[in-house]
Amino acid sequence: MVDIPALPREAAKRPYRPPAPIPHTKRMSRLQFILSLRRNPVETWGVWHFEKPVVSGVTVMGHVTVVSAPEAIKHIMVDNVGNYVKDRLQLKVLKPGLGEGLLTAEGENWKVARRTLAPLFSPRAVEGFTQAMQNQSAAMVTRLQKLENGTRVNVSAEMARITFEILADTLFSNAITTDQQKFAKAFTSYFENQGRISPLDIFNAPAWIPRPSKIMAQPAIQFLEGEMRQIIARRRAQIARGETVSRDILTLLLEANDPETGQGLSETEVGANIVTFIGAGHETTANALSWTLFLLAKHPQILAEVEAEADRAGELPVADWLENLPMTRAAFEEAMRLYPPAPTLSRTAIAADEVMGITIPAKSLVVISPYIVHRHKLLWDEPNYFRPERFLPGAREKIDRFAYIPFGAGPRVCIGQRFAQHEAVIILASLLRQVRFSMAKGEGVVPLQRITLRPSPKLEMLITQRHPLRAG
Ligand code: HEM
Repeated sequence: MVDIPALPREAAKRPYRPPAPIPHTKRMSRLQFILSLRRNPVETWGVWHFEKPVVSGVTVMGHVTVVSAPEAIKHIMVDNVGNYVKDRLQLKVLKPGLGEGLLTAEGENWKVARRTLAPLFSPRAVEGFTQAMQNQSAAMVTRLQKLENGTRVNVSAEMARITFEILADTLFSNAITTDQQKFAKAFTSYFENQGRISPLDIFNAPAWIPRPSKIMAQPAIQFLEGEMRQIIARRRAQIARGETVSRDILTLLLEANDPETGQGLSETEVGANIVTFIGAGHETTANALSWTLFLLAKHPQILAEVEAEADRAGELPVADWLENLPMTRAAFEEAMRLYPPAPTLSRTAIAADEVMGITIPAKSLVVISPYIVHRHKLLWDEPNYFRPERFLPGAREKIDRFAYIPFGAGPRVCIGQRFAQHEAVIILASLLRQVRFSMAKGEGVVPLQRITLRPSPKLEMLITQRHPLRAG
């Protein structure tokens, strides 16, 4: 006999509006804007950003065009993509840690790295990771099953751990030997310090003026550089000894050659790509998973449906899970709509351009914010409410490709999109078959933007075992 605790009833009748900063109704002063950008950039948006297709004007960052209409997004990210490059503010935040990795590279460097790594993310390659994803998820669930009902679990840390373990096991075939906790600490410090937008950077002050938060990020950057050197040296030594090595991300990067010049990637570029993939490849998915668990805890009926799906899928081989978990997938997609892990994408226009009759001056900043687009009044019904049914088959196909952009779009679209969606659904189903998470009374989280959009303070939830532990 299976003992399933009853779901709480109170939330069933009223729709739930998840936490988000209230957009301001009046323009901020310059000082307010700078402080707000530093504290939490997601708080800087005004109501008009969520109502107008394109908002354009001069700010402390020069001329900025915030583009939210799907047709205009398509223009910038696909049709006229050659006119747009990653902007200097974004690069100032990302480059010190991620170097010339795939996320930050431009031109030939980017092309070589993208072409080299694409095979690791093909549909077949990602399907090949299914069993490893399930094994790691099962190991997490076994750990969590030992906890007594009511134990507080740091869900943010658990999700960072599982996504890191999966990355290490699949793309890196376990070449990362340092404990995950040390990487977690380094990335948290990097995102927290380097991810804070400095007023000096907003005004493009010279690089020699010290930025305190950037200095605080230095130990993390040094740790990551040291780790990269060791990972590369170990793999090079294996190759030199003639050992058989997996054709994983490391081997592909070390072998990478530009077909035109015959040149490989430099040691620094290989290291930059490794750190980029660890950074971009686990924190983002971990945040999306945390938000999903938080939202499900607030929505008992949806949670019940997701649990029922997970129970049914549990009886099938894991290869068949994906197509049998529509509500789980929809809940994950809806969580990324409300809380896109990469909430702001930005570019600089090389030459002047025009979208929907509005001029984009040459060298000016263009912002495409998945956070705004996903909550835009012209694009979504009840944009601020958690309604995963929007993403169920039948409804999902009606969503404009450029109205839902958690992974970006065009040639710079997230290379790990399929990988992330695949692992997320496997993690959620594995987890929710066995345990349920709820928020402690009176506790909550709010979205905080530090490069990614994460729950703040860290998401801690109470665990309930859905089944008594079977003996043996
Ligand atoms: C839910 C999880 C994820 C989200 C929401 C996400 C989001 C994004 C977005 C929005 C971009 C485009 C950035 C831009 O246009 O400026 C991007 C790029 C990228 N992502 Fe992801 N990502 C996720 C998971 C992953 C995973 C699992 C990996 C690798 C294992 C990864 C690696 C990358 C890389 C390397 C790029 C740069 C691609 C390029 O410029 O060619 N991401 N991601």
